[in-house]
Amino acid sequence: MGQSWYERHCLSPGIDKLCGGPEVMKLRSEVVPRAEGVVLELGLGSGLNLAFYDPARVKRVLGVDPGVALTDLAKTRMAEAPVPVELLSISGEALPQADQSVDTVLTTFTLCTIPNVYAALREARRVLKPTGKLVFLEHGLAPEADVARWQRWLNPLWGALAGGCQLLRDPLQLLTDAGWTLDAEAGVVGYRMPGPKILTYLYEGVARPHRSA
Ligand SMILES: C[S@@+](CC[C@H](N)C(=O)[O-])C[C@H]1O[C@@H](n2cnc3c(N)ncnc32)[C@H](O)[C@@H]1O
Repeated sequence: MGQSWYERHCLSPGIDKLCGGPEVMKLRSEVVPRAEGVVLELGLGSGLNLAFYDPARVKRVLGVDPGVALTDLAKTRMAEAPVPVELLSISGEALPQADQSVDTVLTTFTLCTIPNVYAALREARRVLKPTGKLVFLEHGLAPEADVARWQRWLNPLWGALAGGCQLLRDPLQLLTDAGWTLDAEAGVVGYRMPGPKILTYLYEGVARPHRSA
């Protein structure tokens, strides 16, 4: 599968710039070190998280991403990563990993984009060990009515321009609805990155699987 001109020259560098600025990299540096053991990173993208994995805690990273648009950048970052990284060009909606084989699922700026996000969260729960955790840093629905109104209006256009990214998802609600329990400190980060408010309302934290869900 090749990249289109738009993916190679607009979408890929655009996402890397928006999600790779100093404020976001600072947040990544706080969130990613929570990963441990065998890590499954949903939506590896251009590999912006890779430098922040702690080699003393992380055995290896399995990066899952069906998009090829970002993999040239990802390859360089994979080569420089402090931990071994393998890239699987598949969707997180159907994982090949065995049940209970992963210690951490990490997702950053990806729950917004996966088409069937509930399928991906179900798969994440299946592959996680009972003691495992899902670490997340995501953008989503803003709390202010006027910002949310703009998000609703612009969502179809933004989705078409940004590889399917949805502006109206609330990651905390998604995780709760999908049968995850949020750690007490999980929650809203707020507007901690530059850019329009419709894109920059952030959430982060750790969620644990309910086995019965
Ligand atoms: C906005 S980018 C974020 C990339 C990276 N996680 C980051 O933090 O910079 C969204 C990513 O989700 C990936 N994605 C889209 N559909 C997916 C799916 N079904 N399973 C896993 N990843 C998916 C895209 O290819 C893209 O790399």
